[in-house]
Amino acid sequence: MINSILDTIFSNTEHYKKRNSKEERKSKAQFFTSKKTALQMADYLSCKNDETSIIEPGAGNGALAATVIFKLIKNGCKKITCTLIENDIGILPTLKETIREMESFATMKGVNLSFSVLQDNFLLCDDLPEYDIAIMNPPYKKIRKDSVESQKMSDFVYGQPNLYSLFMVKTLRLLKTNAEYVFIVPRSWTSGEYYKTVRKYILDNTDISTICIFNERNMSFSAENVLQETMIFAGKKNGHQREMISIDVSDGDQFTSINHYLVSSTTIKNIGSNSYLLIPSTQNEINVINKFSNAKGTFKDAGYVFKTGPVVEFRNKDFLHMEKEKNSIPMFRSTNISSGSFSFPIMINKPQYIDSRADKLLLANENTILVRRLSSKEEKRRIQCCQYKKLKGYSKISIENHVDYLTRIDGGTISESELAHISGLLMSDEYDLYFRLLNGNTQVNAQDLNNLPYLERGINQ
Ligand SMILES: C[S@@+](CC[C@H](N)C(=O)[O-])C[C@H]1O[C@@H](n2cnc3c(N)ncnc32)[C@H](O)[C@@H]1O
Repeated sequence: MINSILDTIFSNTEHYKKRNSKEERKSKAQFFTSKKTALQMADYLSCKNDETSIIEPGAGNGALAATVIFKLIKNGCKKITCTLIENDIGILPTLKETIREMESFATMKGVNLSFSVLQDNFLLCDDLPEYDIAIMNPPYKKIRKDSVESQKMSDFVYGQPNLYSLFMVKTLRLLKTNAEYVFIVPRSWTSGEYYKTVRKYILDNTDISTICIFNERNMSFSAENVLQETMIFAGKKNGHQREMISIDVSDGDQFTSINHYLVSSTTIKNIGSNSYLLIPSTQNEINVINKFSNAKGTFKDAGYVFKTGPVVEFRNKDFLHMEKEKNSIPMFRSTNISSGSFSFPIMINKPQYIDSRADKLLLANENTILVRRLSSKEEKRRIQCCQYKKLKGYSKISIENHVDYLTRIDGGTISESELAHISGLLMSDEYDLYFRLLNGNTQVNAQDLNNLPYLERGINQ
């Protein structure tokens, strides 16, 4: 029975999709969750309530709410109110068909089920009550920083906001204490500066129980051809965090093969003063993350700070030289870092010297670690670095903008033994893997290096 109702819902959705082109739906950020994914999401909820209120923002066809209602009824729940919020008038007839199917099922089961459908912009809806359960596949769409939605959620906006992250915060804020939620969303919120406040809100205010990720990049919405790394995560709204979080790694959106792991929440949720959510997908990754649990803090907490080289070439052409000249001093660039070693000068057709009168672009000639900021996707290792022991004969040097370099926060000199220790850490497979878990893109920004855990002893001690 449940299966045939779901089949009806999804066949209605297919009819809707035939009438509305992919481009049209894309402009509304409308991608539908598959039946198997919807069932899997509901599976991550316990649905043990007697009387329950559900909210599904960005409801679309309402299939996600339907799977929760099925589970609640199966568990003996007798009274359910369900709020569906959707701003697209075009999908409403399909949503209403889902509601009719669900109402007749509930009547048959003797369950008091009522719906309220709000055709509105969820982020602008005021005066909504609190709910017991939320299920959601929010719209993924960048919005302007000065849009009404961004202004309404300004505490959670940094850089260019994306609707999905604001939907997450708003939904969680609408939940009662200990209410359950399950979301399917991009993975981008789990790291990086843009989502810092959103992430902090989620990690501080909810107890994540399960995370599900997909092996293949585009497998969570295979029917919709969505090329986006997605994740499902579920939990409860409260300020606790259980000790262990369950991680499911699925081969795709059919969930035919799932690898299960249990990981300690403190090791994947926090690093020093910065919170990230690391999502390991293999036992090896879990082992590496565990190794870092001994770290007392980040590089920054340990008194080091990585900075980005000050010389942007195209803005400072007049100061740059190919060869050593009377008033020139060395300027290091990423090609001076090669297979873990520093070589200078090298045979390239690019400037390696800068005019010593370019005051603002000069740095003290001190020992440092140089790290390449860009690596290609093909490069095996993300962190490419080397030790720089200060060259004799110069009080100043400079560094091009595609290179990060290490300094001490107290302005002191980095000793040769510190150089050896830190380059040993950064060149280890473990740090490289950890960095990849933290950071999905190929840039190695100074900020991300500063947030890496710092191990006082070597990686294997
Ligand atoms: C990714 S789809 C998910 C649809 C459905 N819940 C599912 O999982 O298949 C997001 C839905 O949110 C709707 N939507 C987009 N912006 C919205 C907004 N500001 N307020 C309410 N709904 C919105 C879209 O029309 C779309 O139906």
